Amino acid sequence: MKADSPIYNSEKTFISNSQEETLALGKKIASDLKQGSVVALYGTLGSGKTILAKGIALGLGITENLTSPTYTIINEYDLKNYPASLYHIDVYRLENEKDFEDIGGIEILNSNGICIIEWSERILKSLPADAVKVSFEITGDNSRVIKISYFLDNDLSID
Ligand SMILES: Nc1ncnc2c1ncn2[C@@H]1O[C@H](COP(=O)(O)OP(=O)(O)O)[C@@H](O)[C@H]1O
Ligand SMILES: [Mg+2]
Repeated sequence: MKADSPIYNSEKTFISNSQEETLALGKKIASDLKQGSVVALYGTLGSGKTILAKGIALGLGITENLTSPTYTIINEYDLKNYPASLYHIDVYRLENEKDFEDIGGIEILNSNGICIIEWSERILKSLPADAVKVSFEITGDNSRVIKISYFLDNDLSID
């Protein structure tokens, strides 16, 4: 399903007051993900996208240290509980959907792995409508407003 007519049944708002709280939120999100899930992260530099991705990886049982894919664009990790990969993608250095297609982004989104995408606003048209959307707003040195919205078929158990 493409992003033309997304129907999100819910949006939840969290206030994070530390890096650790954002990490913990990532771990919780991980427990609701399954093979093929896409987590689309939105927000400016330093807003906490990579920290949340680290939390998700921890929650998925990945023990390797997750590093920012700012320069590599795509980092791949083995998922411990599935014969599939976690793809941690940062599209900051890409211009648009065409660039994303050129690096094989669509194949990755359609794979049976789990994808986390930083700077999703760059590739809106490539995102599946049932992606879990997470947006970050910097509200202070250590505080962030984090909003999570998701599609009917992909209900999150976190609250
Ligand atoms: N509540 C918070 N949640 C996440 N990061 C925070 C928070 N407060 C401060 N920070 C700091 O903000 C920075 C976020 O960095 P990072 O996750 O790499 O951002 P992004 O990937 O969005 O560019 C880190 O240096 C982190 O320590
Ligand atoms: Mg980052």
